[in-house]
Amino acid sequence: MSGRFITFEGGEGCGKTTQIALLVEYLKAKGIEVVVTKEPGGTPIGQELRKMLCTGDKDKFDAVAEALLYYADRRIHMQQKVLPALKSGAWVVSDRFADSTMAYQYYGYNKRLSKEMLDKLYEMTVGDFYPDLTIILDIDPKIGLARSFARNNLSDAKETRHESRETEFHENLRRGFLEIAKTAERYAVLNADMSVDDLHERVVALVEKRFF
Ligand code: TMP
Repeated sequence: MSGRFITFEGGEGCGKTTQIALLVEYLKAKGIEVVVTKEPGGTPIGQELRKMLCTGDKDKFDAVAEALLYYADRRIHMQQKVLPALKSGAWVVSDRFADSTMAYQYYGYNKRLSKEMLDKLYEMTVGDFYPDLTIILDIDPKIGLARSFARNNLSDAKETRHESRETEFHENLRRGFLEIAKTAERYAVLNADMSVDDLHERVVALVEKRFF
C-alpha cells in the first residue's frame, strides 16, 4: 500500500471540513493524487446510514446500536473506498474515522459501553491497520456548538442528532479525544480556536514534518 491515510477528528464545529478542503488543495498542488472522504457517509450505502445516524431523535437508539451502525459504515467505507484508493497509490483524507466512535460512543456517553467491545469491533472490521496521521482539532464545545448550530440552520439536512445532546456529552468527548491522543505516535492535537489560515499553516507544518 503506497498511499497515506490521514484522518481529521474533533468535536462539533471544530472546523475539520474547512481544514480538509485546504489541505487537499495543498497536497494536490504538490502533484499528489488525493481522495477526500468522510465517516459516516463516504459511500452510497454510508449516505443512508448517515441519515439514520445523524438526524432525528437523539434517543432513538443507544450507544451500542450506534457503535454497530458506525462500524457497519466504516467496514463498507474501508472495503469500497479507502483501501482501493490507498492501493492505487492515492492519499486518502477522511473527515472522521474510528477515533470518533471511541470519543462519541464511549467517552461521550460516559463509558456506558465497554472499550473492549469497540476495540474488538475495530479488529473485526478494520484489522491491523491504522491511519498514518490523525489530526485532532480541539475546541471548547461552547464555541464549536455555536458554529455547528449556525451551519445547521442554513442547511436542509438538519443533522442535529448529536448537537442536541447536553453540554456534558460534548465535554466528555472532548476529554476523550485528548485521552486518545496520548495513546499513539500518530496523533497530533491542534488548538482549533484560531483563524482558518493560521490553523491551516499548523496543519501543513504537521503534514510536512511527518511525510516530506
Ligand atoms: P460530522 O458532522 O463531523 O460529519 O459527523 C457526523 C456526526 O456523527 C457527528 O455528530 C459525530 C458523529 N459520529 C459518531 O458519533 N461516531 C462515529 O464513529 C462517527 C464517525 C461520527
